[in-house]
Amino acid sequence: MGDGKPFHLNGNFAPVQDEVSAENLEVEGAIPPGLQGLYLRNGANPVTGHSEHWFLGHGMVHGVRLEAGNAAWYKNRYVRTPFLDNPEIQRISPEGQVDRQVSAANTHVIGHHGKILALEEGSFPCELDGQLETVGFTDFGGRLDTAFTAHPKICPVTGEMLAFGYSWNSPHLVYHRVSPEGELVQSEEISVPGPTMMHDFMVTEKYALFLDLPVVFDIEAAMRGTMPYKWSDDYGARVGIMPRTGNDADVRWFEVEPCYVFHGLNAWDEGDTVVFDACRMSEIWREAGDLAGGTGHSTLHRFSFDLSSGVTKEETLEDRGMEFPRVADERVGQKNRFGYAVNVKAPEGGGLGFGGYCKIDNDKGTVETRDLGEGVGAGEAVFVPAEGANADSDEGWLLSYIHDDRSGASELLIVDATDFTGKPAARVKLPQRVPFGFHGSWVPDSN
Ligand SMILES: [Fe+2]
Repeated sequence: MGDGKPFHLNGNFAPVQDEVSAENLEVEGAIPPGLQGLYLRNGANPVTGHSEHWFLGHGMVHGVRLEAGNAAWYKNRYVRTPFLDNPEIQRISPEGQVDRQVSAANTHVIGHHGKILALEEGSFPCELDGQLETVGFTDFGGRLDTAFTAHPKICPVTGEMLAFGYSWNSPHLVYHRVSPEGELVQSEEISVPGPTMMHDFMVTEKYALFLDLPVVFDIEAAMRGTMPYKWSDDYGARVGIMPRTGNDADVRWFEVEPCYVFHGLNAWDEGDTVVFDACRMSEIWREAGDLAGGTGHSTLHRFSFDLSSGVTKEETLEDRGMEFPRVADERVGQKNRFGYAVNVKAPEGGGLGFGGYCKIDNDKGTVETRDLGEGVGAGEAVFVPAEGANADSDEGWLLSYIHDDRSGASELLIVDATDFTGKPAARVKLPQRVPFGFHGSWVPDSN
């Protein structure tokens, strides 16, 4: 903890000041020539240098363009929102109206139907162009009138984008289905007992899964300007499973042990059973929004919901701390052999530490660890399949930003996932520090 500041404003969590553009970046190793597109990652970068919580800073996207074996450029750009122009602006009017464009737009950045969208779960999606400049918010032609999750799921089979919005006010949960052509074609209110924080949700080929877990809206924390959610011992915990074109009446709720899940790894159908793997914490946020002591110990956990018998099974798959879990985009909603995550280790003195990477092999039941060495921090790794790779294989590359505390330098690390602990395929030298952030995507030119 330096200078008495909270952890999220120190070290490599601290925001950067400048928007930078650089071309023809220095590369150690060889960038696989099949990587043709943009690696993008969003994160919180408070323009004033201060935010009340790690999750609340202004969205800044860091991008590297790869083409023909070269790192053509690096750019970082704020997502230009009313909240960036005026950090004091209020999202909720005195009359209680919520402005869905008063967004931090800081959590994820994805490609769908040729568009790049910066996402934050309290707001509308915000479109960016291929140079990371802000185009503007979209409400899908007036059809979206709720928040839109930062973790929609794009079905690799149909091309649909499945999503939801949650809110402290009513309706607390609304499901959204976006067609492969980018049209919002279905919105359904889903009944839940109260206003919980739903950070992620999951899909299988047949179903959407809603995570109604006991982190509940807290008005006192809202008044303090920090994350307005805290743990409840009374709320209970349940997962709702609904056919993807279904509605509220079709949702089947399965009770689970109280827990919190920021991020699922994946979910899939196995006969009449829905399997859901996630990074699970047994408890968080008895003090609303408290991350100073870490996120709690987040471990890889498997939920199995038998739709015939109504029975839920739970098991811990792996004890070591993991977060930012990802499968290949092509495996979303499909049974996956491989998954990838950041190895989370709480540093001395509290805060968060992202030490290296984990590779999960469901066939072997193993987890391999790639340690980055002392003082080197990891960010979420995105898997990009090699051209012509076998489905559900690890033939491809893991792309992520890493940061070395000793040199102060950041790199785009490209690792051959089949040689997970070996020498990196390439290390792209970045012209400035890239702070730890949240989520990102590989957006191929074919997006
Ligand atoms: Fe997230």
